[in-house]
Amino acid sequence: MSLDLFSSFTVGDLTLTNRIVLAPMTRNRAAPDNVPQAINIEYYRQRASAGLIITEASQVSPEGVGYPATPGIYNNEQIAGWHKITDAVHDEGGHIFIQLWYCGRISHPSLLPQQQTPVAPSAIRPEGDAFTADGMQAYVEPRALKTDEIKNIVSQYQHAATQAKAAGFDGIEVHAANGYLIDQFLRDGSNHRTDQYGGSIENRMRFLNEVLDAVSGVWPTNRIGVRLSPENAFNTMSDSDPQQHFDYVIKQLSSRGLAYLHVLEGNMMATQREVDYRALRDKFEGVYIANNGYDKARAETALAQGDSDLIAFGVPFLANPDLVNRLKTDALLNTPDQNTFYGGDEKGYTDYPFLQNTN
Ligand code: PHB
Repeated sequence: MSLDLFSSFTVGDLTLTNRIVLAPMTRNRAAPDNVPQAINIEYYRQRASAGLIITEASQVSPEGVGYPATPGIYNNEQIAGWHKITDAVHDEGGHIFIQLWYCGRISHPSLLPQQQTPVAPSAIRPEGDAFTADGMQAYVEPRALKTDEIKNIVSQYQHAATQAKAAGFDGIEVHAANGYLIDQFLRDGSNHRTDQYGGSIENRMRFLNEVLDAVSGVWPTNRIGVRLSPENAFNTMSDSDPQQHFDYVIKQLSSRGLAYLHVLEGNMMATQREVDYRALRDKFEGVYIANNGYDKARAETALAQGDSDLIAFGVPFLANPDLVNRLKTDALLNTPDQNTFYGGDEKGYTDYPFLQNTN
């Protein structure tokens, strides 16, 4: 097997044209009712030369929303909107998975039905401010879910998985990273429960396992990916022993026959790592996608050393729709504009130039 970033690679029953993945990135450019719209089609079409596109995180229900103008995958308008995107990507020969999201405590009453209080495993308020339609507002103390409420959220994931099939996706990625609801259960800084969903790592993983059981009734397991972030402190997250706890989680995931395990290594936007990711990767018998701070040289080294099978690029792909071609030809990369990462219009979204337009 070639260890080239630009050679094809098999994930389950899908043949990807290369090993470069578009990392999931929130861009806050859905219509105000959380429906994907025309500029989103163009954004994903432009990036369809990725071996695999993983969409921005998309809510499984109105209760799962945590930011303005982020897409959902729970109602029929959203299916119709997403279907135009999956069609565009498939027309270009690409593959696309949708990332399923429930924000939990990283939300605000103003974003939720009936201004309800955000929910979480435990009533622990994250530091900082929520990004709301009226600007930044302090996070509130979330309401701890009652044990018998959890199955309803699991069924929302199952519904969203069904909707994703109807929208023409090739698969789904369960977002269990970065301090959103599933990760809030996984890590012990945010989970102080005393029922069967808290305490031991076996118990803290129960919610993720139930979600995976539910969506496996809808999709073959080789079309389901999982994203983890063992040590990312973003969203006030912490864990007392990420190496040991995620070793357990990944061993459990390994037996499911998943499409892939996708890991945000280290802290978001930083290259330093405390956790030994190679040790974690070796516990997973399946495709591993590494993400966070990779450039071409680091990506090629990771493939050559067997540290990863695929590499997900975030910010470089945001700013370079033709990233695959640019990496292949060692071309200069466009500079990302941080001011247009979240929200706005075409500017900083679909107007980054392709190579032939920059010469
Ligand atoms: C973000 O909106 O900043 C964000 C969303 C989802 C993630 C990470 C960051 O997984």
